[in-house]
Amino acid sequence: MSSSVIGFIRASLISLLVGVVMGVLIAAGVFSGACKPQLITSAHAHVNLLGFMAMLIFGVGYHILPRFSGKTLYSEGLATAQLWLNLVGLVGVFTGLVAGAYTDKDLLLYMVAPFGAVYALGAIVFTFNMLKTMGGPAPPPLAPPKPPGS
Ligand code: HEM
Ligand code: HEM
Repeated sequence: MSSSVIGFIRASLISLLVGVVMGVLIAAGVFSGACKPQLITSAHAHVNLLGFMAMLIFGVGYHILPRFSGKTLYSEGLATAQLWLNLVGLVGVFTGLVAGAYTDKDLLLYMVAPFGAVYALGAIVFTFNMLKTMGGPAPPPLAPPKPPGS
């Protein structure tokens, strides 16, 4: 597996842990002091959906889609750039939602929107990289096996 695939899968598994622990804590009333509790629910929803689900799909997608379509990945550099865009975007969206639940400041506007745009840019890079991969050239054929004794 490439380092970007490993990065996406690590981020996904960490998000899963954060998401399910947070779900249990929400049900247990740990965040009941928040002035905007719907943003806590939203942080839980998004760390699960943007973190666990989407990052797993990106990682597995980078690994198997080129193989399924018999093509070479268009750009490993774009995959690495996307990993960082999605990591920064995810952490910013999650932090903005949790912090926004405890303050009167409009952190949806000042944190969730800008970091969400960073995450969305990552998704655009994924779309571009995948479309270019599927429309791109097939990998060169493997060299024929050498006859025994040569
Ligand atoms: C141990 C696992 C989990 C627990 C205990 C849990 C618990 C909760 C709780 C208490 C809520 C708030 C419900 C409310 O106040 O209306 C919630 C909302 C939500 N959860 Fe989870 N959750 C878990 C895992 C997951 C996973 C794995 C996902 C997605 C992959 C997920 C997606 C959502 C979504 C999208 C909402 C928002 C639903 C809405 O706004 O109506 N949860 N969860
Ligand atoms: C960077 C991209 C995204 C941003 C910035 C974003 C932001 C938001 C915001 C601000 C809300 C309303 C929260 C509230 O006021 O209570 C919301 C709701 C919701 N979003 Fe997203 N979203 C994004 C991507 C996604 C994706 C990809 C999914 C699904 C895979 C998703 C699923 C949901 C769900 C289920 C709700 C309603 C549940 C809840 O948050 O309480 N979002 N989103």
